[in-house]
Amino acid sequence: MSTDGVDLTRRHFLTVATSVVGGVGVVAAAVPFVASMQPSARARAAGAPVEVDISKIEPGGIAMVEWRGKAIAVVRRTPEMQARTRDLDPNMLRDPESREAQQPEYATNDLRSINPEFFVVVSNCTHLGCSPTYRPEVAPADLGQDWRGGFFCPCHGSKFDLAGRVYKSVPAPLNLQVPPHRYLNDTTLIIGEDGGAA
Ligand code: FES
Repeated sequence: MSTDGVDLTRRHFLTVATSVVGGVGVVAAAVPFVASMQPSARARAAGAPVEVDISKIEPGGIAMVEWRGKAIAVVRRTPEMQARTRDLDPNMLRDPESREAQQPEYATNDLRSINPEFFVVVSNCTHLGCSPTYRPEVAPADLGQDWRGGFFCPCHGSKFDLAGRVYKSVPAPLNLQVPPHRYLNDTTLIIGEDGGAA
């Protein structure tokens, strides 16, 4: 394995970095940073699992990694973020209980995760595949008083909460997809492998 980087260059939930400096991704001021160990480019192309050092993600922050050519986001949800996601009115959401197969079995729960602190999700909007923007704040002027943090797709306005659950009355038909993943230990997340637990 060689060490590659992870992009956390912006709040945007979109772009996986292609440039790597000294094994560490580029960091932007507004978004916390995580370093990770990743397989070689060839192994990545073949779909090898990706390791992420989640201890480097600040509370409330997001890390972006690449797996099988997809941008994967890892969000570190604070207890307050978890609470406000759980407190959302389920009537606002299209599939609040994750009945549709947009996640492995072990992520079919209220926060769609193995560990409620970390949310792992594919950053492709389920409408036409744009990359949603990470918007963790509460009631920003552009998203309205009801907004409790989540992901906003700039292409056609789809909205998802901090568990990737899609709101009603937006173009996206499904919740964001949770990829297979597991935890190697307290600080290491593996994306792309779950030992068949799904
Ligand atoms: S691609 Fe996201 S709303 Fe259309």
